[in-house]
Amino acid sequence: MKGIILAGGLGSRLRPLTKVTNKHLLPIYDRPMIYYPLQTLCEAGIREIMIVTGGNSAGDFLKLLGNGREFGLPHIAYTYQEGEGGIADALKLCEHFAGGEPVVVILGDNIVQNSIASYVERFREQKSGCRLLLKEVDDPERFGVADFDGERIAAIEEKPKIPKSRFAVTGIYMYDNRVFDYARDLKPSVRGELEITDVNNAYIAAGTCYFDVLDGWWTDAGQFESLYRAAQLVAEERMKKSLTPV
Ligand code: DAU
Repeated sequence: MKGIILAGGLGSRLRPLTKVTNKHLLPIYDRPMIYYPLQTLCEAGIREIMIVTGGNSAGDFLKLLGNGREFGLPHIAYTYQEGEGGIADALKLCEHFAGGEPVVVILGDNIVQNSIASYVERFREQKSGCRLLLKEVDDPERFGVADFDGERIAAIEEKPKIPKSRFAVTGIYMYDNRVFDYARDLKPSVRGELEITDVNNAYIAAGTCYFDVLDGWWTDAGQFESLYRAAQLVAEERMKKSLTPV
Protein backbone atom coordinates (compact mmCIF):
# COMPACT_ATOMS: atom_id res chain seq x y z
CA MET A 1 0.00 0.00 0.00
CA LYS A 2 1.44 3.33 -1.04
CA GLY A 3 0.59 6.79 0.29
CA ILE A 4 -0.06 9.99 -1.63
CA ILE A 5 -0.39 13.52 -0.25
CA LEU A 6 -1.97 16.02 -2.62
CA ALA A 7 -0.53 19.44 -1.85
CA GLY A 8 -0.79 21.06 -5.25
CA GLY A 9 -3.07 23.86 -6.39
CA LEU A 10 -2.59 27.55 -5.72
CA GLY A 11 -4.39 28.02 -2.38
CA SER A 12 -6.33 30.93 -3.91
CA ARG A 13 -8.92 30.96 -1.11
CA LEU A 14 -6.19 31.86 1.39
CA ARG A 15 -4.79 34.89 -0.43
CA PRO A 16 -2.79 36.96 0.54
CA LEU A 17 -1.36 34.29 2.91
CA THR A 18 -0.53 32.18 -0.15
CA LYS A 19 0.71 34.99 -2.38
CA VAL A 20 4.37 34.18 -1.78
CA THR A 21 4.30 30.83 -0.03
CA ASN A 22 2.54 27.49 -0.34
CA LYS A 23 -0.69 26.88 1.58
CA HIS A 24 0.63 23.57 2.94
CA LEU A 25 3.63 25.26 4.52
CA LEU A 26 1.45 27.62 6.59
CA PRO A 27 1.41 26.94 10.33
CA ILE A 28 -1.29 24.94 12.06
CA TYR A 29 -0.55 25.75 15.70
CA ASP A 30 3.05 24.50 16.18
CA ARG A 31 3.73 22.70 12.86
CA PRO A 32 3.55 23.34 9.14
CA MET A 33 0.27 22.07 7.63
CA ILE A 34 1.96 19.33 5.55
CA TYR A 35 3.25 17.62 8.73
CA TYR A 36 -0.27 16.53 9.67
CA PRO A 37 -1.25 14.44 6.62
CA LEU A 38 2.29 13.05 6.55
CA GLN A 39 1.98 11.99 10.19
CA THR A 40 -1.45 10.48 9.48
CA LEU A 41 -0.05 8.25 6.73
CA CYS A 42 3.02 7.28 8.80
CA GLU A 43 0.86 6.35 11.80
CA ALA A 44 -1.19 4.10 9.51
CA GLY A 45 1.99 2.17 8.73
CA ILE A 46 2.51 3.52 5.23
CA ARG A 47 6.17 3.76 4.36
CA GLU A 48 6.25 4.68 0.66
CA ILE A 49 4.88 8.18 0.18
CA MET A 50 4.68 10.65 -2.69
CA ILE A 51 3.90 14.34 -2.21
CA VAL A 52 2.38 16.28 -5.11
CA THR A 53 3.15 19.95 -4.68
CA GLY A 54 2.54 22.98 -6.86
CA GLY A 55 2.34 26.76 -6.91
CA ASN A 56 4.79 28.78 -4.81
CA SER A 57 7.75 27.60 -2.76
CA ALA A 58 7.69 24.04 -4.05
CA GLY A 59 11.41 23.66 -3.28
CA ASP A 60 10.73 24.44 0.38
CA PHE A 61 9.00 21.07 0.82
CA LEU A 62 12.35 19.42 0.18
CA LYS A 63 14.07 21.76 2.65
CA LEU A 64 11.42 21.05 5.27
CA LEU A 65 10.90 17.32 4.87
CA GLY A 66 14.05 16.12 3.10
CA ASN A 67 14.01 12.36 2.72
CA GLY A 68 11.53 11.91 5.58
CA ARG A 69 13.97 10.72 8.25
CA GLU A 70 12.24 12.83 10.91
CA PHE A 71 9.10 10.79 10.23
CA GLY A 72 10.94 7.48 10.25
CA LEU A 73 10.67 7.11 6.48
CA PRO A 74 13.40 5.75 4.23
CA HIS A 75 12.50 8.16 1.42
CA ILE A 76 9.88 10.64 0.16
CA ALA A 77 9.00 10.99 -3.53
CA TYR A 78 7.98 14.41 -4.86
CA THR A 79 6.28 15.65 -7.99
CA TYR A 80 4.97 19.01 -9.20
CA GLN A 81 1.51 19.95 -10.50
CA GLU A 82 1.32 22.90 -12.87
CA GLY A 83 -1.61 25.23 -12.14
CA GLU A 84 -4.81 24.28 -10.33
CA GLY A 85 -6.33 21.55 -12.50
CA GLY A 86 -8.07 19.81 -9.63
CA ILE A 87 -7.50 17.05 -7.11
CA ALA A 88 -7.89 14.27 -9.70
CA ASP A 89 -5.45 16.11 -11.98
CA ALA A 90 -2.87 16.04 -9.16
CA LEU A 91 -3.58 12.37 -8.51
CA LYS A 92 -2.96 11.46 -12.15
CA LEU A 93 0.68 12.47 -11.66
CA CYS A 94 1.11 9.53 -9.26
CA GLU A 95 0.25 6.64 -11.58
CA HIS A 96 3.86 5.71 -12.16
CA PHE A 97 4.66 5.95 -8.43
CA ALA A 98 1.70 3.68 -7.55
CA GLY A 99 3.09 1.03 -9.88
CA GLY A 100 -0.11 -1.06 -9.83
CA GLU A 101 -0.48 -1.04 -6.02
CA PRO A 102 -3.46 0.28 -4.05
CA VAL A 103 -3.06 3.79 -2.65
CA VAL A 104 -4.17 5.80 0.37
CA VAL A 105 -4.64 9.40 -0.75
CA ILE A 106 -4.91 12.33 1.65
CA LEU A 107 -5.44 15.98 0.83
CA GLY A 108 -2.62 18.19 2.13
CA ASP A 109 -5.04 20.42 4.05
CA ASN A 110 -6.95 17.66 5.85
CA ILE A 111 -6.25 17.16 9.55
CA VAL A 112 -7.64 14.38 11.73
CA GLN A 113 -7.64 13.77 15.45
CA ASN A 114 -7.19 10.00 15.44
CA SER A 115 -5.29 7.29 13.62
CA ILE A 116 -6.76 6.01 10.34
CA ALA A 117 -4.94 2.67 10.70
CA SER A 118 -8.13 0.64 11.31
CA TYR A 119 -9.77 1.98 8.12
CA VAL A 120 -6.64 1.27 6.08
CA GLU A 121 -6.69 -2.27 7.49
CA ARG A 122 -10.32 -2.71 6.40
CA PHE A 123 -9.39 -1.47 2.92
CA ARG A 124 -6.52 -3.99 2.81
CA GLU A 125 -9.04 -6.78 3.52
CA GLN A 126 -11.41 -5.40 0.88
CA LYS A 127 -8.95 -6.28 -1.95
CA SER A 128 -10.51 -4.06 -4.64
CA GLY A 129 -12.64 -0.94 -5.16
CA CYS A 130 -12.43 2.21 -3.09
CA ARG A 131 -13.05 3.12 0.52
CA LEU A 132 -14.09 6.62 1.58
CA LEU A 133 -14.14 8.19 5.02
CA LEU A 134 -17.22 10.26 5.81
CA LYS A 135 -17.89 12.70 8.62
CA GLU A 136 -21.12 14.29 9.77
CA VAL A 137 -20.76 18.08 9.64
CA ASP A 138 -22.84 21.23 10.20
CA ASP A 139 -21.86 22.81 6.86
CA PRO A 140 -22.06 20.00 4.26
CA GLU A 141 -22.50 22.48 1.37
CA ARG A 142 -18.72 23.17 1.60
CA PHE A 143 -17.82 19.58 0.68
CA GLY A 144 -18.54 16.53 -1.42
CA VAL A 145 -21.73 15.15 0.17
CA ALA A 146 -22.99 11.56 0.24
CA ASP A 147 -26.51 10.77 -0.89
CA PHE A 148 -27.53 7.43 0.65
CA ASP A 149 -29.66 4.61 -0.65
CA GLY A 150 -30.13 2.50 2.50
CA GLU A 151 -26.72 1.34 3.65
CA ARG A 152 -24.90 2.31 0.47
CA ILE A 153 -23.84 5.61 -1.06
CA ALA A 154 -26.00 6.22 -4.14
CA ALA A 155 -24.04 9.27 -5.34
CA ILE A 156 -21.76 12.05 -4.17
CA GLU A 157 -22.55 15.67 -4.97
CA GLU A 158 -19.77 18.25 -4.96
CA LYS A 159 -20.70 21.32 -2.91
CA PRO A 160 -24.48 20.98 -3.34
CA LYS A 161 -26.66 24.02 -2.63
CA ILE A 162 -29.18 21.72 -0.95
CA PRO A 163 -27.23 18.79 0.55
CA LYS A 164 -29.02 15.42 0.63
CA SER A 165 -27.28 14.47 3.89
CA ARG A 166 -24.94 15.94 6.50
CA PHE A 167 -22.19 13.45 5.66
CA ALA A 168 -19.18 15.12 4.04
CA VAL A 169 -16.67 13.05 2.09
CA THR A 170 -13.39 13.79 3.83
CA GLY A 171 -10.16 14.18 1.87
CA ILE A 172 -8.94 10.68 2.74
CA TYR A 173 -9.52 8.20 -0.07
CA MET A 174 -8.37 4.60 -0.53
CA TYR A 175 -8.26 3.28 -4.07
CA ASP A 176 -7.28 0.21 -6.01
CA ASN A 177 -5.33 0.75 -9.22
CA ARG A 178 -8.50 1.35 -11.29
CA VAL A 179 -8.42 4.91 -9.96
CA PHE A 180 -6.01 5.88 -12.71
CA ASP A 181 -8.33 4.48 -15.42
CA TYR A 182 -11.23 6.49 -14.00
CA ALA A 183 -9.08 9.63 -13.69
CA ARG A 184 -7.96 9.31 -17.31
CA ASP A 185 -11.60 9.51 -18.51
CA LEU A 186 -12.54 12.65 -16.56
CA LYS A 187 -13.72 15.88 -18.13
CA PRO A 188 -13.24 19.24 -16.35
CA SER A 189 -16.18 20.36 -14.19
CA VAL A 190 -17.88 23.77 -14.40
CA ARG A 191 -15.14 25.16 -12.14
CA GLY A 192 -12.59 23.88 -14.67
CA GLU A 193 -11.15 21.12 -12.45
CA LEU A 194 -10.84 17.35 -12.66
CA GLU A 195 -12.98 16.44 -9.67
CA ILE A 196 -12.19 13.66 -7.23
CA THR A 197 -15.96 13.41 -6.70
CA ASP A 198 -16.30 12.22 -10.33
CA VAL A 199 -13.73 9.50 -9.63
CA ASN A 200 -15.67 8.44 -6.52
CA ASN A 201 -18.93 8.42 -8.49
CA ALA A 202 -17.30 6.10 -11.05
CA TYR A 203 -16.56 3.63 -8.22
CA ILE A 204 -20.16 4.00 -6.99
CA ALA A 205 -21.49 3.27 -10.51
CA ALA A 206 -19.30 0.16 -10.62
CA GLY A 207 -20.73 -0.95 -7.24
CA THR A 208 -17.28 -1.00 -5.64
CA CYS A 209 -17.42 2.00 -3.29
CA TYR A 210 -17.37 1.32 0.45
CA PHE A 211 -17.13 3.73 3.36
CA ASP A 212 -16.57 4.22 7.06
CA VAL A 213 -17.60 7.09 9.28
CA LEU A 214 -14.44 8.64 10.70
CA ASP A 215 -14.16 8.82 14.48
CA GLY A 216 -12.71 11.87 16.25
CA TRP A 217 -12.64 15.34 14.78
CA TRP A 218 -11.72 16.18 11.18
CA THR A 219 -11.19 19.51 9.50
CA ASP A 220 -9.81 20.99 6.34
CA ALA A 221 -7.70 24.15 6.52
CA GLY A 222 -8.27 25.70 3.12
CA GLN A 223 -10.21 28.81 4.15
CA PHE A 224 -9.55 31.41 6.83
CA GLU A 225 -12.21 30.02 9.19
CA SER A 226 -11.12 26.40 8.82
CA LEU A 227 -7.42 27.32 9.05
CA TYR A 228 -8.16 29.05 12.35
CA ARG A 229 -10.32 26.18 13.57
CA ALA A 230 -7.65 23.62 12.67
CA ALA A 231 -5.11 25.48 14.83
CA GLN A 232 -7.58 25.60 17.73
CA LEU A 233 -8.36 21.88 17.49
CA VAL A 234 -4.68 20.93 17.37
CA ALA A 235 -3.85 23.28 20.27
CA GLU A 236 -6.64 21.77 22.41
CA GLU A 237 -5.40 18.27 21.58
CA ARG A 238 -1.80 19.09 22.56
CA MET A 239 -2.97 20.60 25.85
CA LYS A 240 -5.15 17.57 26.60
CA LYS A 241 -2.19 15.26 25.95
CA SER A 242 0.20 17.30 28.10
CA LEU A 243 -2.31 17.07 30.97
CA THR A 244 -2.73 13.30 30.62
CA PRO A 245 -0.51 11.50 33.13
CA VAL A 246 1.87 9.01 31.46
O1 DAU B 1 -11.63 18.53 2.36
C1 DAU B 1 -12.51 17.63 1.75
C2 DAU B 1 -13.06 18.17 0.44
O2 DAU B 1 -11.93 18.43 -0.44
C3 DAU B 1 -14.03 17.18 -0.21
O3 DAU B 1 -15.21 17.06 0.57
C4 DAU B 1 -14.41 17.63 -1.62
O4 DAU B 1 -15.21 16.66 -2.23
C5 DAU B 1 -13.15 17.85 -2.45
O5 DAU B 1 -13.46 18.35 -3.74
C6 DAU B 1 -12.24 18.86 -1.75
O6 DAU B 1 -12.89 20.11 -1.76
P1 DAU B 1 -12.16 21.52 -1.67
O7 DAU B 1 -12.84 22.49 -2.58
O8 DAU B 1 -12.09 21.91 -0.23
O9 DAU B 1 -10.70 21.24 -2.22
P2 DAU B 1 -9.54 22.29 -2.46
O10 DAU B 1 -9.67 22.87 -3.82
O11 DAU B 1 -9.48 23.25 -1.30
O12 DAU B 1 -8.26 21.37 -2.40
C7 DAU B 1 -7.96 20.60 -1.25
C8 DAU B 1 -6.54 20.08 -1.37
O13 DAU B 1 -6.38 19.30 -2.57
C9 DAU B 1 -5.46 21.15 -1.46
O14 DAU B 1 -5.05 21.51 -0.15
C10 DAU B 1 -4.39 20.51 -2.27
C11 DAU B 1 -5.10 19.50 -3.17
N1 DAU B 1 -5.23 20.00 -4.55
C12 DAU B 1 -6.28 20.80 -4.91
C13 DAU B 1 -6.38 21.29 -6.21
C14 DAU B 1 -7.55 22.16 -6.63
C15 DAU B 1 -4.25 19.68 -5.46
O15 DAU B 1 -3.28 18.96 -5.12
N2 DAU B 1 -4.34 20.18 -6.75
C16 DAU B 1 -5.37 20.97 -7.16
O16 DAU B 1 -5.40 21.38 -8.35
